[in-house]
Parts: sequence; structure tokens; C-alpha cells
Amino acid sequence: MSDKPAKYYVTTPIYYVNDQPHIGHAYTTILADVLASYHRLLDVPTWFLTGTDEHGQKVQQAAEKNGITPQQQCDQTVIRFQELWKRLEISNDDFIRTTEERHKKIVQNVLQELYDRDEIYRAEYEGWYCVGCERFFMEKDLVDGNCPECGKKVDAIQESNYFFRMSKYQEWLIDYIETHPEFIQPAFRANETLGFLKSKELQDLCISRPKSRLAWGIDLPFDPDFVTYVWFDALLNYITAIGYGSDDDMFKKWWPCSCHLIGKDILTTHTVYWPTMLKAMGVEQPQSVFAHGWWLTGRTKMSKSLGNVVNPMEMIDRYGVDAFRYFLIAEMTLGQDASFTEEAFVKRYNADLANDLGNVANRVLNMISRYCDGKMPAAAAADAGFDTALDDALWQDAVAVAEEIAPMIANMKLDGSVGLVLSAVRKINVYLQERAPWSLAKQEGSEAEVAHCLYTAAECLRVCAALLYPVMPEKMAALRTALGMADAKPHLGKLAEFGVLVPGSEISQPGALFPRIELEKKEEKPVEQPKKEKAPKQKEKPSADGLITFDQVMNVKLKTAVVLEAEKIDGADKLLKLQVDLGDEKRQLVAGIALHYKPEELIGKTIVVVANLKPAKLRGVESQGMLLAASMADELRLVTIDGGIGPGALVK
Ligand code: ME8
Ligand code: MG
Repeated sequence: MSDKPAKYYVTTPIYYVNDQPHIGHAYTTILADVLASYHRLLDVPTWFLTGTDEHGQKVQQAAEKNGITPQQQCDQTVIRFQELWKRLEISNDDFIRTTEERHKKIVQNVLQELYDRDEIYRAEYEGWYCVGCERFFMEKDLVDGNCPECGKKVDAIQESNYFFRMSKYQEWLIDYIETHPEFIQPAFRANETLGFLKSKELQDLCISRPKSRLAWGIDLPFDPDFVTYVWFDALLNYITAIGYGSDDDMFKKWWPCSCHLIGKDILTTHTVYWPTMLKAMGVEQPQSVFAHGWWLTGRTKMSKSLGNVVNPMEMIDRYGVDAFRYFLIAEMTLGQDASFTEEAFVKRYNADLANDLGNVANRVLNMISRYCDGKMPAAAAADAGFDTALDDALWQDAVAVAEEIAPMIANMKLDGSVGLVLSAVRKINVYLQERAPWSLAKQEGSEAEVAHCLYTAAECLRVCAALLYPVMPEKMAALRTALGMADAKPHLGKLAEFGVLVPGSEISQPGALFPRIELEKKEEKPVEQPKKEKAPKQKEKPSADGLITFDQVMNVKLKTAVVLEAEKIDGADKLLKLQVDLGDEKRQLVAGIALHYKPEELIGKTIVVVANLKPAKLRGVESQGMLLAASMADELRLVTIDGGIGPGALVK
């Protein structure tokens, strides 16, 4: 892999505890987790910090509304974040709450020092204040008299306050951003900050609130009538949590931060306030601040007031943690906005996870079970005596993908890196189709070739599973176990060596890793139901030319099924009663095949069944579907599957 950093320190914003976490918070935290996990698997010393922002007007107001104290508001809400992170398998090393002593004490020390050095002074202030954004604005900043950031009403304010001499760093900051292109990412966000810095005179930053107006904050050490402005307090979490002013060794170990992940809503605070604060304190700048875009619901921003927030807990309950993490990472191009809809989720899940990754994994494992006695086969020697061109090419592709991922992650192309791994997964599928080990297996003396083919496919699957591990830790650990690997976690450094899987080790069947989500379940929305029922009958008939539409074909759900039991039905010479496994359920079928098949011949066959046929009774016995067979004259043969695919696969 390309040059790794000496250490990796990644942070998320610390989230306000005025409300419960939603998908936006989940996203930034999952993103940080994927990056942290990726670096850990490369053996890079890694520190991952998240936490909660517990002071300020928003929290105080939420507490008032809920009839509790601000500290109670914090203590109750913080649990929701912590529980969600646990549920989402977030591997943070620390969780900072700004109401903790370790944070408050250092914030006060910083304030005192800056005050002593005249970086902070007292003055009269007149202006406008936005409670939602917790920010002051000058009259000229307002848009139509409202907050320029969120568009909400602002309050007129006149009071005495303390100010940080931010304005004097304007030129320095412009120069710093221009000479450090990696500092603000993506580059267009750096331009946004530069545009702002070059077009306006930077003001000094008001860093206090009189207690008469807001009591919930950290006391100014030099004036007990004031508390600290919540942003000045919050930004410092990135250094108080790693020992600034309390544990020099730890601080030296992790600072400067590798990447502050933020949403684009808090770009100014992180690329103007924070760097100037650090400059005044004489602390090195973070290596990068990366601002991602918004998750939208359809085309509108997700916000509580619009009532369109996606609750991550609900999505996880419905579809599982790993699928949720996968969707968020694969769907959002970092830096841009992305839209979250359940339709898009299901579509991507079925395409990438059920059809591609899950299917390849099941195929490879099933075939190793069938053709290699459930033990990892061995690769052939170099002079195998058969053509290994396809096998070599597949492996080289997997190696190339593993090598391309490192620079992509370093450049924050996470969606692209996931897409690349999925393309490698699809190649395994194509390879299996071309190599057709199920046909090879029928040829005499082909054991070594079948073994080599399945071993190569399994090795490539190992590489893909390792590269996807940071995104889907639980499922990829399960896949590694199924491949007979002893350690659940991969080592990304050693990824591209061929021959890691141990021949002879037991493989296991993890079951369907990603069972397909049936879209028709979702289509049964109450509003649409009556319309469907009223649809004119003739629509279902084929058109005059005898042709049917694509949709009509797709209405028939054909699935693979494995016959578990078969028996004759008393008094019906032609009928057999079958119990079949349809992947996620068992069904009973009645089929008119008794003259052509003996019951015992059918056991274990993989057949094709119409899975969405209305159940019907034949000679009093219920049949929950119909199997496919070809018949000509007196002959009848079942449609069966040519190996490698288990029950429950869609036939199309
Ligand atoms: O701003 N799409 O906290 P906050 C994507 N306490 N990300 C979103 C999002 C969306 N629709 N909504 C929220 C604060 N986020 C301060 C931060 S840091 C020193 C202090 C994510 O609870 C995104 O990361 O409002 C955004 O920056 C963050 O949540 C804001 O969380
Ligand atoms: Mg916010």
C-alpha cells in the first residue's frame, strides 16, 4: 500500500444534545469510523474522537421546554447518542462531553491565558443574534432581516461582552489557506472560505454571554458575570480530549489532527474561528478540515422542523447495521449533497449486497461445500497442467483493486473505493460463469483444476471482504469466518499476498449474508391499494400481437428452490407433494410429475418455482407455488439449476 501516515487522528463534530440523533449525525460518525477502522487495519496508530456539545442556548432552551435542568437535558440526550454509536458499531476511542471537568478546566485556562496576553478584551456590543446558529451577526450580514445562515428570525442585542481579536489574523489566515491546499477540503470549500475572507473585513469574535441572558455555559475565569460562547468552548474539545494542557505526551502523540470531519453547515466556525484561535494560542493547525454535504430527503434538507428526518434506529431495525453503513458510504460522493430515500436504499441493497456480494459469497461457499468436501481447497502448482490464464487475471485484478484503494481513501473518495471493490466482486461472478467449475467437476481427473478455480475465487473474495471490512465489520467478519479464517479482523497491509486462506480448513455456510429485500412489500402502500384493485381486468391479458411487456414478465417471481421432501398423494396417480426450501422460507408444492419422477430422485434437486402464485388446493392438498418443467409428447423434465446457486435466488 502507498505511504501510510505515521499516525491518524480523526474527529467528528460534537453534536448538540438539544435533540435526538438523526441520519446526518450518524453519517459523519460512520464516516469517521470507516476512516479510523481503515487506518487501524493498516497498523497506523489511530485515535478517533467524538462527543457532545452540551452548553449554549439551544440546550438551555430544550431543557426549559422539557421542564428539566440543562444538565438533566444533557444526561438524558447523551445516552441516545452513545446508544446509537454502540448500535452502529462505532469504534471511537474517546467520547468527550463538554460538561466534563477535564474539558471545562482547560477551556478556562485557555481563556485566562488569552485574556492575559490581550488576545481577549471587553467592549460594548450591538448587533443581531441567531439562537439556532448560536451566532452574532452585524446588521449588514442579515438577509432580508433574517439570519444569513439559516434564514430564521434574529434578535436585536445590545450588551457588554468579551471579544477575541480574530480580525488581526485575517491576512495570516488567507495566506495560510492559500499555501496549504490540503487544509480545507474539498478544494471548493477552501475557495468558499477564501471568498468570505477576501470580500469582508473579519470582525473580532464575541466569546462571552452575560449570565443574565444565558446561564448555561463555562464561567469566564476573569469575570463571573459571563459564560463562554458555546463555539469557543466546543471547538476546544478537539485538543482538551487529547491532553492539551494536561497530558503533554498524549497531546504530542495525536496533535495535529489528521482530519476534522464536519458537515458544510459548520465550515466557517472550523475554517475561520478555529484556526485563528489556535494561532493565538500558538498551537499547530490541524492537517485538514473536510466538509461533507447534506443528506436530503428527496430534494429538501432534512430538518426536524420540516418533519422529514430519517431516524437511523428505524432503518437499522429494518435492514441491519451493516447495510445501513454501506448505503451511506456508497451513496454519498464526499463533499456533495445526497438524497436519502428508502427506495434508493432498497435498490442499492438488492443490487450491490444481495445480488452481487451476497450471491458471490454464497456461490463460492456452496461450491466448496459440494466439490471440495467443505474444506478450503488448495491452489495448483505453477505447472498445473491446465490453463490458468483466467485465474491469474482474476487475482491480478483483485491485487490492482487493493492497491488503488489506498490513494482513494487518502483522497477521501470513499464512495469510489466501495464501488471499485464491488466491481471486483462482480468480476468473481463473471469468472465463475466463464470457468464453470460445476461443469469442470463432471470431467474425469479435473479435481485439481476445480480446486484451483474455487481457491482463486475464495482468495479474491477474501481481498474484497477485507477492503469492505471498515464499512461492514459484522458481515465481513462473518464472511471471513465462513472462509475458515481464524481472526475476524483483516490486515490490510498483507492483503495482496496470494495463498492466505489455509487449504484444508473447514469452511462454513453463514446463511444468506444479505437476504433480498422484496420491493413489492413496500409497494403495498395503503393509498395505492384501492387503485390496483380497480384496474380494468383486460390489462392483464396479452396485447393483440401476443406479446407481453417487460413489466408483465417481471410480475412473475421465479426463484430457485431445493427439494427437501417428496411423497405421493393417496388417490392421485400423477401428483407428488413436495416440501421445498425457498431460501428464507419453506413451502409445500403439489406437482403433476409423479409419472416422470420417483419421489426419492427429487430430493436435493435445485428447481425453479413460481414464488408469487396464489396458493391453491389440488385434491385437497394446498400448493403454495408452481414448479417449472419442460414437456414434449410423453416426456417431462424439470427445469433445474446448473450448480453453484442455492435456494432463494431470483430467476430472470
Ligand atoms: O453543529 N446531512 O452540532 P449539530 C449531513 N455542536 N450531515 C448532517 C446533517 C445532514 N442533513 N445534519 C447534521 C453542531 N449533520 C455543533 C458542532 S463542533 C466543535 C460543534 C451532521 O448537532 C454534520 O456533521 O448541529 C453537521 O456538521 C453536524 O451533524 C452538526 O451537528
Ligand atoms: Mg446544527
